[in-house]
This record gives sequence, structure tokens and C-alpha cells, in this order.
Amino acid sequence: MLVDTHVHLNSKKYKDNLPQVISRAHEAGVELMIVVGFDHETNLRAIELAEKYPFIYATVGYHPTDARHVKPRDYEILSKQLKHEKVVGIGECGLDFYWDKEYVDKQIEVFRKQIELSIEFDKPLIIHMRDASEATYNVLSEYKNLKGIMHCYSGSPEMAKEFLKLGFHISLGGPVTFLNGRVPKEVAKIVPIDKLLIETDAPYLSPHPFRGKTNEPARVKLVAEEIARLRDVSYTSIAKTTANNAYKLFNIKEMK
Ligand code: NI
Repeated sequence: MLVDTHVHLNSKKYKDNLPQVISRAHEAGVELMIVVGFDHETNLRAIELAEKYPFIYATVGYHPTDARHVKPRDYEILSKQLKHEKVVGIGECGLDFYWDKEYVDKQIEVFRKQIELSIEFDKPLIIHMRDASEATYNVLSEYKNLKGIMHCYSGSPEMAKEFLKLGFHISLGGPVTFLNGRVPKEVAKIVPIDKLLIETDAPYLSPHPFRGKTNEPARVKLVAEEIARLRDVSYTSIAKTTANNAYKLFNIKEMK
């Protein structure tokens, strides 16, 4: 019933316990996981996992903090990978001025190339944005008919409305459960239900009460529970609706 729309099962963190992590996810009700690549190696690993497991799909892309290493040939590789039937999105890509203020122009160039690939292949963008709301908005607003996800959205409710107008979905993760997560809790209340997604970003951003520990996809359930509480609706309705939104956006047929 749950879909984790952003999980890095391709991370080395799971090299010794992946079967256990997957089975705990299933026990928690996770039926589909989108494994997100962020560099050449993790893109390949995401595809490998998608080929192995029916309940895993992959995305491929280059993370903004890696932008300075991206070469023209890397876009050809992405183009080939985007033709794979289980590669359902592009990213994570975007802008990150928290970890990297030095290569801003290169970040923007690499972001634009991936936006263009998203349009060409008609697959959603997975957007990473940190300390860069305005710049990310400015780049995206130059294009039309975009679709994608503001992943683990941490911006203001006002900016969320602007990204929604550009056609994006808003995905919430562990921070919505944090005791001091005032802003994401506000965002959780205002996103139209058909534009809302949930994720873990595991192994990062473990929800409360596991904050600081290695995260895993089973904990997407805690994210859904907190959003249900904030919106004063049932857990089942949040789980089902966000799952349906994910199937639709990624153009995946529901598995039965
Ligand atoms: Ni991520």
C-alpha cells in the first residue's frame, strides 16, 4: 500500500543487509520503491536492482554536488539508460548551494541538461534543492510542461505553491516527523492531496524517533502516519493516495 518514492538502496550502506531491509519494508506495507541514482556508479546499481526485483524501479541522474565532474559523454550514457523500461525518472538533479558554492554555473548547466532530457524522454525530474529555492525556481520557470518531484521538500509553504504551479509534486520525508519540523509540517497541510508524495531518502534522514540512525524504506510508514495526523485524515487514505499519485506520475502499472 505504501510507495517510497526516493530511496538509495543503491548505497553501500546496504551492502551487507539488503535482503533484510527489503523484507522489513514489505512487512511495513511498502509495495514499491523508487531507487534513485546520483552518480554513474549508483545509476548502474539502481538499474541492476530494478532488473532484479519486480517491486523496484530506478531513476538515473547527476547530483548537483557532483556537477563539476560531469562530462558531455555522461549525457549520452543517461540518454541510453533512460530508454530502459524500468528507468522511470531523471535525477536526482538540481541545485545545492549548501555543500557547493564554488561551481554554481556548472551546477546550473548540468541541471539544465537533465531538465532537457526529462522533456525529451517525457519522464519526471527528481529535484534536489538545498539553500537554493530561488535559483532552482528561476531555472525551472524557463521551461514549460515540466513534471517531477521536489524531493524531501524543505522550502517554505509559499515556495511550495510556486513549484506546484510549475507542475511539480511535493514529496515529504523524515523531517516532517521531527519534533522541530515546523516548516515541513506546515507544508504537509497545504499541498493538494493529488500532488503529495512520501519518501525516506534512506539511508539518510531517518524519521523521529530514529533521527540520526541509518534510515530504511520501512520507515516511510512513519512519514505517512505523521502526515495523516497533521491533515486529520486516516493513515490508510494517505498511504493509498500517495501511492496512487506515485504510480501515475511514474507511469507504472499497479502491481497486483
Ligand atoms: Ni536522495
